[in-house]
Order: sequence, then C-alpha cells, then structure tokens
Amino acid sequence: MLASIFLTIIALVAVYYIAAQSIKTRCLPQGTRLPDGPPGRSFVGNLPDIPPKHSWLKFYEWKKKYGDLYRIKLAGRTNIIVSTEEIANDLLRERGNIYSSREQLPMAAQLLSDNLRPLLLPYGSEWREVRKLMHSLTNVSMTSSYEPVQEEESTRMVRDLIREPRAYERWFHR
Ligand SMILES: *[C@@H]1O[C@H](CO)[C@@H](O)[C@H](O)[C@H]1NC(C)=O
Repeated sequence: MLASIFLTIIALVAVYYIAAQSIKTRCLPQGTRLPDGPPGRSFVGNLPDIPPKHSWLKFYEWKKKYGDLYRIKLAGRTNIIVSTEEIANDLLRERGNIYSSREQLPMAAQLLSDNLRPLLLPYGSEWREVRKLMHSLTNVSMTSSYEPVQEEESTRMVRDLIREPRAYERWFHR
C-alpha cells in the first residue's frame, strides 16, 4: 500500500516535471534562448544552492559569473534574475505591458485571495486600476507626507542599534 502511494507520487512528480519542461520550451519564441545560469540538480534545480541566510550574496556571486540577467531553476520552474536597476526599468517599466503579468496560481490567487491580491493579479484592466491606486499612494509627491513616520522610525532604529547592535539586521529590516 505505502509502496504504491509512493510510486504514484513519483509518477505524478515526473509527469509534472516533464509537462513543465515542454511548456517552457514551447513558450519561447523561435530563435531565442534562455539566459545562461548556474547548472542545477534535477527536480530541485538551484534551490539547494541558495543559502537561507544572506541569500543576496549568492545572487551577487551568480551575477558576477553569469551577467546582469541570468536564469535559475527552482523546483522545475525557470526564474530570470534581473540584477541591475537599468534592466529592471527597461523591462518592467518601459515594457511593462508584456512583463507585468503574474503566473496564475489558482489556489493562492482565486481560492485564498478572491483575486484581490495585487501581487497575484494577471495583467489587465483590474491590474491597471490597482496599479493606479498604488501609484497614488506611493508617488513622488506623496512621499513627503510619510516623512514624520520615517523620522520616528529612524529614531527608534538608532535607539535599538545602540541598545542591541548585534541585532542590526532586525533593526534595518524593520
Ligand atoms: C500622486 O498622487 C496624488 C493623489 O494620491 C496626486 O494628487 C498627485 O498628482 C500624484 N502625483 C504624481 C507626481 O503623480
């Protein structure tokens, strides 16, 4: 019984993996190829290479080796890592209409969030409405209205740094 459940799970994972691979190659326009990236292991990809702490150092190391735009694989999914602000602006802002959509995750986006989570919305009119709202809360002219809060938080940070300097990451993160 246990063995057959185990075999079924392995078979399902294999089918998923093969499907993911073929979808991935099918979606690439002809004559294009994915950026270079670190070789990963099968199934888990580069997941084990990413340290749970200070992971950005690993991403920085990969950037130096593979360039400002590179690819990593996480458990069967291909991820493109953008390492400079210039590329991020070129792709995500200037060509936002083609690069702003999100992968559709029915469980997270529809069942758990009722399609109300901006992070998981597909590109479209609703996405544009939400972006407009977010922009009106975070645009340049609004930022000065947040200065009192930032001032207070800075003071708290300095106080906490003096009290407990070893926890500096926590204070900066907050
Ligand atoms: C920022 O948003 C506010 C309203 O939330 C609006 O009055 C203002 O014109 C916007 N400024 C810019 C630079 O878009």
